[in-house]
Amino acid sequence: METMPGYLDLSGKVALITGGSSGIGKGAAIEMAKQGAGIALIGRTPDELEETRQEISETGTCRAYTADISNSQLLKSAIDHAARDFGRLDIVFANAGINGVWAPIDDITEEEYDQTMDINLKGTFMTIKFAVPHLRKQEKGSIIVTSSVNGTRMFSNTGATIYSTSKAGQVAMAKMLAIELGRQNIRVNVICPGSIGTDIGDNTEHRNTKGLGQPVQYPEGQIPMPGRRTGTIEQVGRLALFLASDASDHINGEVVYIDGGQSLVQG
Ligand SMILES: NC(=O)c1ccc[n+]([C@@H]2O[C@H](COP(=O)([O-])OP(=O)(O)OC[C@H]3O[C@@H](n4cnc5c(N)ncnc54)[C@H](O)[C@@H]3O)[C@@H](O)[C@H]2O)c1
Repeated sequence: METMPGYLDLSGKVALITGGSSGIGKGAAIEMAKQGAGIALIGRTPDELEETRQEISETGTCRAYTADISNSQLLKSAIDHAARDFGRLDIVFANAGINGVWAPIDDITEEEYDQTMDINLKGTFMTIKFAVPHLRKQEKGSIIVTSSVNGTRMFSNTGATIYSTSKAGQVAMAKMLAIELGRQNIRVNVICPGSIGTDIGDNTEHRNTKGLGQPVQYPEGQIPMPGRRTGTIEQVGRLALFLASDASDHINGEVVYIDGGQSLVQG
């Protein structure tokens, strides 16, 4: 296994990653495993988890735990189990999330509201809550939360009201906890990706959103960089690695956008 010595080195550390079996979580798992971290993946799809576990195991130690992060009992049990198996936790990537239903307010049901908020916001809260006692044992830790450009710098995806609200809530939560946990040497930072090439869109339900927002055209393209379309899970994985590592040890309570500048031109 190739590890790069220095500030990015995670040898001997253990990273817990929710939503780690696909997309951005998987990208981070690959980058962190390359730097020597043990990886604990949490996800809700056993087959996909096992496939990714096998893939990451070619680089380093990886274990997988099935849990729905909106179920506090299952989530706590998975996190405790991972900490017991590895003997420690150092890094938490609270990343699992869904787009949910994008629709006009009249069409969104209370159940749909609850589902998105339970996974994206309550799930993030509980992931951090249940992991912190394990991080404290190392007297040091790094927590990274995946929020989004939606709800923090972009408000033009009309219909994505609940998603955007959950993503804005994550930022407030992370900043509050950055101060509370910073005193215990546990940093909390946020990643806000723009459009990244994952399968998250497959699980998005668009209902009556056509013509809902303000019509806006960007003739020069959405990303103000040559030839750029969507970002990759490797690019976001490298950012998560940086925030997990000692290379970022003076960064706390920060929100980092990774969108090629998209949200600066498309608010
Ligand atoms: N892809 C993008 O363009 C983009 C942009 C901004 C933010 N994000 C955020 O990135 C994060 C990861 O999404 P992604 O794009 O990699 O998509 P993805 O669908 O590949 O990954 C999400 C992962 O979370 C898991 N998950 C969902 N609900 C869960 C639950 N209740 N319990 C356990 N696991 C659950 C899924 O199984 C999946 O593995 C999400 O929080 C998403 O909001 C994605």
